Amino acid sequence: MAKKKVMFECMACGYESPKWLGKCPNCGAWNQMEEQLVAPTVSATSPIHITTSRKKTSSHAVTLDQITLSSEERMATDFQEFDRVLGGGVVQGSLVLIGGDPGIGKSTLLLQVSMQLARQHTVLYVSGEESLTQIKMRASRLGTDADKFYLLSETDLSTIASEIQRIEPTIVVIDSIQTMNVPEHTGTAGGAGQLRVATSILMRIAKENQIAIFIVGHVTKEGNIAGPRMLEHMVDTVLYFEGERHNRFRMLRAVKNRFGSTNELGVFEMMDIGLQEVLNPSELFLEERIVGAVGSTVVAALEGTRTILAEVQSLMTPTVYGNAKRTASGIDYQRVSLLLAVMEKHCGLLLQNQDAFFKITGGIKLDEPAIDLAIAVSIASSYWNHPTNIDDCFIGEIGLTGEIRRVSQIKERIKEVQKLGFKRVFIPKNNFAQLDKMESLEIIPVATIKEAIYKIF
Ligand code: TYD
Ligand code: MG
Repeated sequence: MAKKKVMFECMACGYESPKWLGKCPNCGAWNQMEEQLVAPTVSATSPIHITTSRKKTSSHAVTLDQITLSSEERMATDFQEFDRVLGGGVVQGSLVLIGGDPGIGKSTLLLQVSMQLARQHTVLYVSGEESLTQIKMRASRLGTDADKFYLLSETDLSTIASEIQRIEPTIVVIDSIQTMNVPEHTGTAGGAGQLRVATSILMRIAKENQIAIFIVGHVTKEGNIAGPRMLEHMVDTVLYFEGERHNRFRMLRAVKNRFGSTNELGVFEMMDIGLQEVLNPSELFLEERIVGAVGSTVVAALEGTRTILAEVQSLMTPTVYGNAKRTASGIDYQRVSLLLAVMEKHCGLLLQNQDAFFKITGGIKLDEPAIDLAIAVSIASSYWNHPTNIDDCFIGEIGLTGEIRRVSQIKERIKEVQKLGFKRVFIPKNNFAQLDKMESLEIIPVATIKEAIYKIF
């Protein structure tokens, strides 16, 4: 028997080293090296090889005009939100990774989506985490029953591969990749080596047989230990399912997509009958605002191709002892620190001895420059204890000299602001020329944060 080789692999990024290292030289993670036994005969292209006669892709080079685009390449689900995040439906032969915290609802989402698809396509749902009865119970709670829906409770990838060969599904769900095990490859299930081999085998199965495969990957708090980050470059599309566990909203976001745009956001609501899509998220995010609130502003933020209105809240209170505390949920901490400094320098607010807390309501995460103005105004409102107007909305990026900078897609943003019945919107002066006058909405151009504050309060 061939001698077994020992390798150390970084659980965060998959970096391999012949000896143990405290810090991974590739990604810088500490204490992530784990011992892996590697049988010399095994490579990433392992012996599991299935090919059915269906739609085998040719390996001859062709010119562009020889390639015909057919419109059936995408399969639609009942969830518009899901299809939009994927770039217009499920692409045949694509490998999609859905990452997210344990318990956030990944299995629920994929079970619902795959049962919808099973009305027209053959689906194989493989679970390495739950028994068939558990899945059946959940499936009957979610309502729909489909006859082309196959369930398999299995963790051995070679058994799964032969079931795929037998059933010939169009869609396969692997829940989760961490529980999958390639017997020919030593190393613990969920370890970096196993994860990578399993994913590359699934990729080949997807491409050779034109099967759309969804793989679930659990992400831990640090976002790197459980491995999905390492798999991102191997798959076609990476979706993250996120949200606060105690909040009913869940966001599906595309962070990588070979078949569509990234940053597209789909919003769902977790109900007792499973997930329901939210087609008008702005209304829901704004419904709990109160009139005359201090430190609350509304921003029109761009999420992929869609504008979403969300509420920014901030709270400034004098620091009691020690250093000022700052926390931000739903917005980048660096961004708010910078805005606090800008407000201190250009608007004369004394913020260094204030604790500052920030929150985007509804559990949504906002990460684009145009949210700056809304954050800055909410800081001033809370600091001066001066309520903001419930009919105002704010759009604009703020620079270090206190200037309000032009933002992209102003027309789309304004359209959504108007649709939701706001009376006034503050926008960057340089965007003003692009807009036509509106009857129901007063558009107020501002050039600096100082000017904005002066006009608002
Ligand atoms: P699940 O899909 O198992 O999460 P994941 O696969 O990401 O680990 O979701 C589990 C949570 O969702 C669980 O806490 C219960 C909740 N849930 C509902 O609120 N309603 C439902 O209809 C279902 C099926 C689950
Ligand atoms: Mg699950």
